[in-house]
Amino acid sequence: MAKIGVDYYPEHWDESLWEQDAELMAQTGVKVVRMAEFAWSRLEPKEGVFDFGWLDRAVELFASKGIEIILCTPTNCPPLWLYEKYPDALQTERSGQPIATGIRGHRCYNSPSLRKFSERIIRRLTERYGSNPAVTAWQIDNELDAVHCCCPECTERFRKYLKEKYGSLESINKAFGSNVWSGEYSAWTQIKPPLGSYPLGWYNPSYMLEWHRFCQKSVNDFVRFQAELIRETIPEAVITTNTWLCENAPDFYKMSEPLDVVSYDNYPPTRLPDDPDALYSHAFHLDLMRGIKRKNFWIMEQLSGAPGCWMPMTAAPKPEMIKGYALQAIARGADSVVHFRWRSAVSGAEMFWHGLIDQSNVPSRRFYEFAQLCREAEALDTDGTEVSSDIALLYSPDTETALKIQPQTDGFHYYNQLKSFHDGIISLGANCDIISQSADFSGYSVIIAPTMFITDESVVKRLYSFAENGGTVVLTNRSGVKDQYNNCIMAPLPAAYSELTGCTVQEFDPIGWDAAHVEMNGREYEVSCWCDVLKPDGAAVIASYTDRFYKGSPAVTVNSFGRGKCYYVGTIGKRDFYKELCARILSDAGLDIITDLPRNVELSARKGGGKEIIFIFNNNDKEVEFSYLNKKFRLKPFEMKTVTQS
Ligand code: GAL
Repeated sequence: MAKIGVDYYPEHWDESLWEQDAELMAQTGVKVVRMAEFAWSRLEPKEGVFDFGWLDRAVELFASKGIEIILCTPTNCPPLWLYEKYPDALQTERSGQPIATGIRGHRCYNSPSLRKFSERIIRRLTERYGSNPAVTAWQIDNELDAVHCCCPECTERFRKYLKEKYGSLESINKAFGSNVWSGEYSAWTQIKPPLGSYPLGWYNPSYMLEWHRFCQKSVNDFVRFQAELIRETIPEAVITTNTWLCENAPDFYKMSEPLDVVSYDNYPPTRLPDDPDALYSHAFHLDLMRGIKRKNFWIMEQLSGAPGCWMPMTAAPKPEMIKGYALQAIARGADSVVHFRWRSAVSGAEMFWHGLIDQSNVPSRRFYEFAQLCREAEALDTDGTEVSSDIALLYSPDTETALKIQPQTDGFHYYNQLKSFHDGIISLGANCDIISQSADFSGYSVIIAPTMFITDESVVKRLYSFAENGGTVVLTNRSGVKDQYNNCIMAPLPAAYSELTGCTVQEFDPIGWDAAHVEMNGREYEVSCWCDVLKPDGAAVIASYTDRFYKGSPAVTVNSFGRGKCYYVGTIGKRDFYKELCARILSDAGLDIITDLPRNVELSARKGGGKEIIFIFNNNDKEVEFSYLNKKFRLKPFEMKTVTQS
């Protein structure tokens, strides 16, 4: 059974409402509530003065209804008294000024005061609730991102981080190429955070990559600090933190090392894009989350109503979306789906980010669909099952950062590179893992490694030996461009990978939004953003350009390498291009594919304990009809069907 839950804020509601809320949850089939991630000012209204009474009563109430509780450390929102008295707890902006308080997430992870007061409140919470069997898991903070705090503490720590990594200023100057624009450091005090109003793209890219790595390390240290604290009191605690694909992304892999479970805040779009080529499916996000620890994960916040607040509201979830998208998450490895939020707020900045029940407090369509979801999830026998795949897509936090520092051309986004292949694979009915490039490759037949921009020699070696031993590797444009320091490598691209690809890039054309065309298998495809003009050196040509000054030149190649092969994709197409390409790659690798699934129908399988559950999801806002497993399927918009085989 996958557990369905809700995010609940007892501190927002009159206590007289709690009992009826908890009762309705229990009747509806809610199995878990998450609480207290923003409630520090209610738990410690004054320095050293604690009030756990209300939380005791809430915990006891839900426990009495048989509902599990995920308790959070409230460190996302230190109270205003804390910031006022201990201003080092506040982040410092690039202007050098402390961030203005009054919203949330203002804390500096490295602040000694924040650490001190966090430790005290976390100890109080774990000592109080650690032995309560109803509290089954702990969430650290909320949506931690690698914020660029420029305070004196972070500045000192950044210097220390560089000193430990490089040893001397000479090595830093060499690694960063700091002599460009006379940026050489001659004293440690000259190393600073990126203060000022310059666009970040004007800073030295090596420095910027290290700065972001340092900010990621600050989040990781903060998560480890909290996880260790929780475990001191509750050695067997199940610990998570809810994450998402934010601007200053943490390194998901390192951040989750001290955690037991990855959890994700999942808000699929409620209005499907008009462009049929838009890659809107959150299957990508879900596969990325499952790949962080390569095991099942949780959803800690799930779409429940019309999103809005700091932006104009967007469409209410259409009928079946709430249920369908929660089941889509389960299909892709979620064991728990907690909905944001039980009831829409009546005060505070997020009153128009809607929950399951509107401000009217009258349960209606969305709530009844949620209730149906609770029943369906309870009936699903997913215990002991997992998603496995023959195909892995590689993700690199460093490459994501480096491409944000130096965007390559209009429309070129790292996530889109990954999403295009992911979409190609799932359009053929195959499962796909998205994993760290440092993860073990054994067990996979195909490794797709889009845009290996920052070169990591150990990953290069492992990709060569993967192909050598019979695997299929797929590489793309903008691979082998940079070294570990984010400097360009002086060699024909794809540099370190050239022997594996059996081709080099003669010239490239960053065409941005403009269109070019390639011919593949007798069909013409529109491409955009990037055109590598390839020079084969042993590789066979699969697709060639049909226009521009490089008309007739190769755009996609395949090379035999050892017992395996390597494809090189020099340009960026639309959805049909990737479907065609992936069909060729997967069938060549001997994998089963289904070529006639309707667009946006997603299959995925969870296996284990001698059974296999196949999930069939219509991620379209229109009905579809098709044959699969010798049966006719007709699926309503956003409907999920399952087939269990033993
Ligand atoms: C998440 C956040 C929640 C809430 C939600 C809807 O990013 O964790 O606290 O803000 O978005 O806006």
